[in-house]
Amino acid sequence: MKLLQKMKDGVYMLPAVHWERRLFDSLIPLPDGTSYNAYLVKGSEKTALIDTADPMKAETLMEQLQGVEKLDYIVANHAEQDHSGCIPLVLQKYPDAKVLATPKAKPMLMDLLLVPEEKIVTVEDGETLSLGDKTLRFIHAPWVHWPETMFTYLEEDKILFTCDFLGSHLATSEMYATDECRVYEAAKRYYSEIMMPFRPSIQKNLDKIKDLAIEIIAPSHGPAYNKPQFIIDAYHSWVYDEPGNIAVIPFVSMHGSVKKMVEHLEAALVERGVIVKPFDLTVTDLGQLAMALVDAATAVIGTPAVLAGAHPAAVYAAYIANAVRPKTKFVSIIGSYSWGSKAIDQLSGLITNLKAEVIPPVFIKGFPKDEDFKALEKLADTIAQKHRENNLK
Ligand code: FEO
Repeated sequence: MKLLQKMKDGVYMLPAVHWERRLFDSLIPLPDGTSYNAYLVKGSEKTALIDTADPMKAETLMEQLQGVEKLDYIVANHAEQDHSGCIPLVLQKYPDAKVLATPKAKPMLMDLLLVPEEKIVTVEDGETLSLGDKTLRFIHAPWVHWPETMFTYLEEDKILFTCDFLGSHLATSEMYATDECRVYEAAKRYYSEIMMPFRPSIQKNLDKIKDLAIEIIAPSHGPAYNKPQFIIDAYHSWVYDEPGNIAVIPFVSMHGSVKKMVEHLEAALVERGVIVKPFDLTVTDLGQLAMALVDAATAVIGTPAVLAGAHPAAVYAAYIANAVRPKTKFVSIIGSYSWGSKAIDQLSGLITNLKAEVIPPVFIKGFPKDEDFKALEKLADTIAQKHRENNLK
């Protein structure tokens, strides 16, 4: 079946929809599957393919290209395998085609995909390429989310091809984002897992495209946007807005002590007007946790002591939270031990990327008692007060 969808005269989306994929990078949950979108731009003289597909979907891409007799260029906006992985296969079919990429992408394409050096032509920031009646402009956009990333702008049709940037892991048969609620959630999940660590670069790149006339944003994951302001506004909010009056509590409990502490803290925070998002790490989709961290002002990690350290599930969550670098302003730790624990030191050492103020932890021996509940209420007091002082909504 050929899934080649016309966007405009001479411009086609070639989506390889991966409905059943449930894990990306052996790490990221994909509850809604994903897609790898290539785009075909046919000018009056030359034809370019923008991005390819993950090699797992090579057959789909090559079927879509069956009716394309000549290809002059393959634009590699990003060297990662889910977009450039089929370049060698496409080059086999079109041996005269040239691969266009940033100078930083060139060695990556050679190292990762064994693309021969002589096949690659580097393009500078702002450089244009005429396809006849259509013109591609290359816009270097580093660090969204690798150092070599770029966008391609089709001037006549005002389409911006952004690869990962502004995309979503969402399998859909629709070319455009029509169900904005669903796409918003998928795009936020994608942002939180992939893009959030690079907020300063996102700011620069949003700024770089702010004066471009854009009718369509065409990412290489998920649907395209024919109302591009929707996703631009969403990114602005995720990147620039102050975090909300929200406390995220990722926790794990073994015999119920930590769970009791979390429940007490939750109730105390709610009583003080703070929105609470607890995540039992034994059943948590890490994407949900990452999404919650986009907006939360406070994160409180709950853990029991295991072999004198934090529970491995709490260690993993702390590592992930540290890696995605959310805007979190305040952090704390709560937990319980039986005979000894260095969990606080261990977890504190894992979250050094978070430029957050540390609120004194509540780490107790055994099941919580009256004085422990009071300590948790004091922690809730402090969190609520910090949120008020920072005027968090
Ligand atoms: Fe979708 Fe960074 O690859």
